[in-house]
Amino acid sequence: MHKHELVVVANRLPVDQHVASDGTRSWVTSPGGLVTAMKSVMEDVDSAAWVGWPGLTDEAIEPFEADGMSLFPVFLTNSEVEKYYEGFSNGTLWPLYHDVIADPNFHRTWWDAYVDVNRKFAAAAASVAVRGGTVWVHDYQLQLVPEMIRAQRPDLKIGFFNHIPFPPFELFAQLPKRNLVLRGLLGADLVGFQRERDSINFMTCVRQLLGYRSAEHEIHVPGIGVEPDRTVVARAFPISIDTSVYDRLTKDPAVLKRAEEIRAELGNPKRIVLGVDRLDYTKGIRHRLKAYGELLAEGAVDPHLVTMLQVATPSRERVDAYRQLRDEVELTVGRLNGDFAPLGRPAITYMHRSFNREEMTALYMAADVLLVTSLRDGMNLVAKEYISSRVDCQGVLVLSEFTGAADELRAATLVNPHDIDELKTAILHALAMSPDEQRAAMESLRRQVENNTVQDWADDFLSVLSEGGERNSSPHIP
Ligand code: ADP
Ligand code: G6P
Repeated sequence: MHKHELVVVANRLPVDQHVASDGTRSWVTSPGGLVTAMKSVMEDVDSAAWVGWPGLTDEAIEPFEADGMSLFPVFLTNSEVEKYYEGFSNGTLWPLYHDVIADPNFHRTWWDAYVDVNRKFAAAAASVAVRGGTVWVHDYQLQLVPEMIRAQRPDLKIGFFNHIPFPPFELFAQLPKRNLVLRGLLGADLVGFQRERDSINFMTCVRQLLGYRSAEHEIHVPGIGVEPDRTVVARAFPISIDTSVYDRLTKDPAVLKRAEEIRAELGNPKRIVLGVDRLDYTKGIRHRLKAYGELLAEGAVDPHLVTMLQVATPSRERVDAYRQLRDEVELTVGRLNGDFAPLGRPAITYMHRSFNREEMTALYMAADVLLVTSLRDGMNLVAKEYISSRVDCQGVLVLSEFTGAADELRAATLVNPHDIDELKTAILHALAMSPDEQRAAMESLRRQVENNTVQDWADDFLSVLSEGGERNSSPHIP
């Protein structure tokens, strides 16, 4: 089999299967930022591969090429999807790592499936990487993979990036099998996080639970038996977006026309307030609707002049907490419209579906205010996409302090979404900001986003990984 210099390992493959009306199937590159970032990195190396789950359970798919990438599908059974993906990943880890906003559930059978599936991903990655190559593992679904790969392939440089928060010790300590998770991650040469705070939380857990020494960003991992000691670097690498996509789309006449149409379709209101999220309880959609609903009830926001558009991508629809959230959000939107919407014009337009990049950009360009009210969020790329779309330097970003993005985007209107009064004040302030005030804030935000694109992020991570990997492959003197 042909071997690859760089192997990306992520729960999902970077392509989705599309079935045409005549039944023919094709693979289409997924629109996410990670895919775009990896594609640009993958183009720079002689040979790169991606190991991931194709999102199907009914059939095993052979490795294939799509959009210039070599893709290695990992087959998951229905039971593995239920226990590894919906169970341990999204029923245990996701809520625990997001400040227990929802109750984490734990079942030993979920853990067993998590171990088995991580082993499948590790075996696939180990079999396609060239001697001395680099493997980059992504996200909370695959935390055991670094150690599993190292056991088979100590010649590889192994990086891990956690896209979601890493919880404080007091919360992480609740996780059954917590030490095995830490050991899994420490199989990497470099463990990357979104925020400095996440890397500190991780190092604290490693010190408290495993007793390993650490200084600055380096963790001393003692070798067992004949294994040499190693140094693992844990550091923040805040992820970003591909700004060139928005440079292009904001100049596209069809997108500009669509932004106008959106405003017209919403009744040409004075102000449009936008929310764009996966329908996830971490996004604070309930808090947002509560604050907005109170403003409507108090008459502080006039639905004849201001309209809200909430776009909610369907997500993890078989997990209980997500079903409940959907019911609550849809009930609340229905109630608020029943109570406050003028005839023929909703106070809140709610769309439970996905859109392409062109439509998303047009939405961002049409919106006067973007509300990001996450109760906890690793980064929040929607905030950066909005900024990148505002080439006119207008628009206001209301941004929760509990996002990774808030660490960088200090010129946003920062809020604590738990404080409904503060959120209401922030929304009113955003609606009232003058064009000059909007410009001053947006110029600063745009500089910030332009100075750290997703390509910078990937280059930075891979160059630190390359140094760390070299050090661990040479004899280490503690
Ligand atoms: P998360 O990774 O938790 O979903 P982010 O804000 O970091 O949150 O990333 C969400 C990504 O999904 C963004 O790139 C955003 O543009 C995209 N997205 C969100 N909602 C939609 C939608 N309805 N249609 C298409 N893309 C969406
Ligand atoms: C977040 C996670 C990703 C995940 C994405 C979509 O961004 O960090 O790992 O892929 O949400 O969720 P899904 O469960 O549909 O893959």
